[in-house]
Amino acid sequence: MDHFALVDGAMQCEGVPLQRIANEVGTPVYVYSAATFERHAQVFRDGLAGVKRKHLAYAIKANPNLAVLRLLAKQGYGADVVSLGEMQRALAAGMPASDIVFSGVGKTVGELSAALHAGLGQFNLELEEEGSVLAAIAADRGLVADAVLRVNPDVDAGTHAKISTGKAENKFGVPISDARGIFDRLAPLAGLNLRGVAIHIGSQLSELAPLEAAYRRIGALVQELRAAGHAITHVDLGGGLGVPYKEGDVFPSPAEYGAMVARVTDGWDVELMFEPGRVIAGNAGVLLTRVIWVKPGAGNPYVIVDAAMNDLARPAMYDAWHDFAAVRPTGEKMIANIAGPVCESGDTFAMGREIDVVKSGDLAVFRTAGAYGATMASTYNSRALVPEVLVSGDKFAVVADRIQPETILAAERVPEWLQA
Ligand code: LLP
Repeated sequence: MDHFALVDGAMQCEGVPLQRIANEVGTPVYVYSAATFERHAQVFRDGLAGVKRKHLAYAIKANPNLAVLRLLAKQGYGADVVSLGEMQRALAAGMPASDIVFSGVGKTVGELSAALHAGLGQFNLELEEEGSVLAAIAADRGLVADAVLRVNPDVDAGTHAKISTGKAENKFGVPISDARGIFDRLAPLAGLNLRGVAIHIGSQLSELAPLEAAYRRIGALVQELRAAGHAITHVDLGGGLGVPYKEGDVFPSPAEYGAMVARVTDGWDVELMFEPGRVIAGNAGVLLTRVIWVKPGAGNPYVIVDAAMNDLARPAMYDAWHDFAAVRPTGEKMIANIAGPVCESGDTFAMGREIDVVKSGDLAVFRTAGAYGATMASTYNSRALVPEVLVSGDKFAVVADRIQPETILAAERVPEWLQA
């Protein structure tokens, strides 16, 4: 459920007509609903009511806007970060350093060191060498880094290849069969408290079965490690729960997910950690756009909108579907292709789609754009960086400016030897 709905024939976000946001901020613009974010944060937590000891670390990569992070910090969420930039955001939003988990397959020595200095709560190690380097940095400063080892359970998550992370050939984690040996070698190191294991098998998962299979493998590994004398107090179950993008699609609910987790992890006696991203942010945002032209073509007409692949990359990158809806629908439908102004055929949001009838100047939205939307935006074709707006009740605020091409140009320079 979200808070984008038609009121008197025109779409609103909570109490604010999208038309008003378009008038005051312009388009394209991401519009987020605070009430939806809050609801999702609550629903995810409630779904895990059967899990006694848990830590919720919102995967910042899904939507790292500072205002969004502040809202989630107030809901008691910590963060899962994958770079120092994300760490800075989490801290700036008021999340305690101890509630932040540092994931990422390529943390540099500089990043490990800075994160240790900031007092980050947990390091999710991706390889043995990372553990020994971290241990050495920590021991050198008289510190102890809390860490878990990410293992690759080799399960097929059944999602798009580019967002699948738990198969043996993926770059993430260590093979589960290597985990015991790595624990034996890393656990004794001063500077490291290797306290558990982590997994994350992929994103936009539509079934619980692959997650359950992966969690069962982790459960067996925990037993094996304990039998070998290792103290396992934490297991990080990652993120990955999918959301419906198409009207009518059905996905496992957080309650169903939570029931599965409670059943599978019964008796593990650990603190469970979760890294939800999309399930919190996805349906909390839309990309508001204006139709520039409706261009007749050889086949279906092309609806050319002022949003492009640089603003919402998911269709171009993952063939992703985002529902398209007119802000003031007439009730009539048409079959059309939807594309942006960028000079690539890949800048196409939909082909041969039945959509609300729209004409030049009309406003429309791409739905379910709250996760992996603005954060993946670029300035390709020297377009402005898309702004973000947060709505709460009948008020709204611009929470990220439209960064204009001239601002980006100002950060570039022609070297002296080319100036003559
Ligand atoms: N934890 C780790 C270690 C991750 O790599 C990810 C996502 C998450 C948690 C959060 O997963 P979620 O709950 O959001 O599924 N740009 C792609 C998605 C990439 C996901 C990367 N990792 C997209 O637009 O579909």
